[in-house]
Amino acid sequence: MRIFHITALFVLTAVCVCGQAAEKRKLVYVTVLFRHGDRTPVFVYPTDPYKEEDWLQGFGQLSQEGMRQQYELGQFLRKRYAGYLSKFYNRNEVLVLSTDYDRTLMSAQASLAGLYPPSGWQVFMKGLRWQPIPVHALPKSQEKLLLYPLKDCPRYHELMNETHHTEEFLSFTATHKNFIDLVRNKAGFNTTDLNYVWGVQDTLLCQSLHNMSLPAWVTPDVMEKLNTVKDFALEILFGVHKRQEKSRLQTGILLGEIVKNLSKMAVPEPSQKLKMMMLSSHDTTLAAIQISMNVFNGKQPPYSSCQIFELYREANGSYSVSIFYRNDSTVEPYPQQLPGCSVNCPLDDFVKLTKPFISDDRDKECQAASKDTDGHEPLTHKPDCPPSSVNPDHQSCRVICLQKDQIRSQRKRDLRNQEVRKTKSVNSFLRDLQPLHLGMQ
Ligand SMILES: *[C@@H]1O[C@H](CO)[C@@H](O)[C@H](O)[C@H]1NC(C)=O
Ligand SMILES: *[C@@H]1O[C@H](CO)[C@@H](O)[C@H](O)[C@H]1NC(C)=O
Ligand SMILES: *[C@@H]1O[C@H](CO)[C@@H](O)[C@H](O)[C@H]1NC(C)=O
Ligand SMILES: *[C@@H]1O[C@H](CO)[C@@H](O)[C@H](O)[C@H]1NC(C)=O
Ligand SMILES: *[C@@H]1O[C@H](CO)[C@@H](O)[C@H](O)[C@H]1NC(C)=O
Ligand SMILES: *[C@@H]1O[C@H](CO)[C@@H](O)[C@H](O)[C@H]1NC(C)=O
Repeated sequence: MRIFHITALFVLTAVCVCGQAAEKRKLVYVTVLFRHGDRTPVFVYPTDPYKEEDWLQGFGQLSQEGMRQQYELGQFLRKRYAGYLSKFYNRNEVLVLSTDYDRTLMSAQASLAGLYPPSGWQVFMKGLRWQPIPVHALPKSQEKLLLYPLKDCPRYHELMNETHHTEEFLSFTATHKNFIDLVRNKAGFNTTDLNYVWGVQDTLLCQSLHNMSLPAWVTPDVMEKLNTVKDFALEILFGVHKRQEKSRLQTGILLGEIVKNLSKMAVPEPSQKLKMMMLSSHDTTLAAIQISMNVFNGKQPPYSSCQIFELYREANGSYSVSIFYRNDSTVEPYPQQLPGCSVNCPLDDFVKLTKPFISDDRDKECQAASKDTDGHEPLTHKPDCPPSSVNPDHQSCRVICLQKDQIRSQRKRDLRNQEVRKTKSVNSFLRDLQPLHLGMQ
């Protein structure tokens, strides 16, 4: 009897302690950003024995394997956030955004099927463990949040050009020259652009994951080297050279909005019911935001990998952010540490540390800063015209200056266009594919 009492007391105490522990940190807001699941290739290389017709639904489509991966991700989220998210789907609690690609839209839907299987009154069709849940997307041409790299930024193109002249880049390409030549020859390409190698790697990976036999030249060693080149080609888009400025011109948009929302959610507001943002996107989106935060592990984010942001209210009422990377469904998500902060990073520090990587005026920063490509003087320097503040009434001069300005800008635009055309012809069709397909998978 006595022992029973003591045991009961002990159990009660344990429950209380656990209850207190659970109250210590309270989850108040979650953002998950994932890459779509397994998909078919996005192109064939010139000597590819396979063609688009070899894939039931053609290029760039979510496969059944990909559907299973995303469904599993949804089940994982259900388990992780049981007790936080309502068991029944509640439209105020979750908001789902996707890029306007079949594979990301379908990935979002497959995950939602795993996250919100209806039960009880929510079953609308007997025997169907699924319910419709909205997934929002903007047309590709308007997408500025989830599709990287954004192409609309002249300064970014300059930075990429600079990147191609850095020691890191030149030494990487020199080290891998023989290998890149081999791939070029075997795959039937003329150029050494790393994006071709990336493209070939991607197509071969899709084929091997689908148990299609690969050409004899694709040995395990070749596949491994292809991975190395692909990872590097991905990283230079957002890092390696001037990481901070690249971030400000690219993923700073997404990081800025995520950070803004975390801050907003840390201000209690009774009408605020949103608990989870779900963002369905691409490998470049994940890599870009991880490079912005300096937590990138150097590897292309695998299918269905998921970047998690969790906002907590601490016992003393302060707020903190914990971030995780789920790149492997067989283990718990890896906690990530923002350099300069603890794993449970106080919100104010999280905001402070990410701020330099977010631009307040991206349009302005995107204006190319360098001199004309043919060596003309910089447009900001106009020695033959007085600054308007010195002689604001000197109309005739101002008109001439304006005309000269216009002529110069036109010349600069023409040069830039010429440059773009030149690059295009050199890199032929693949360069066009790069930002939309290869650079964003
Ligand atoms: C690219 O960068 C190199 C060196 O950094 C420079 O000489 C060249 O003019 C640049 N080209 C363009 C198109 O900006
Ligand atoms: C490769 O070079 C050959 C001849 O130099 C040319 O005819 C062909 O169009 C080029 N192919 C590509 C993909 O640029
Ligand atoms: C490829 O083969 C492996 C091993 O036999 C199998 O587990 C896997 O499901 C196959 N993948 C596809 C897409 O058929
Ligand atoms: C931020 O939250 C708002 C709702 O308050 C939502 O519309 C927006 O999509 C969110 N953005 C991100 C990147 O989570
Ligand atoms: C996942 O990420 C962790 C942490 O960056 C890394 O150690 C691990 O190798 C990655 N696993 C896979 C399968 O990419
Ligand atoms: C509140 O608690 C957190 C977590 O224990 C701690 O890091 C933080 O310094 C505390 N803040 C204050 C103002 O006491």
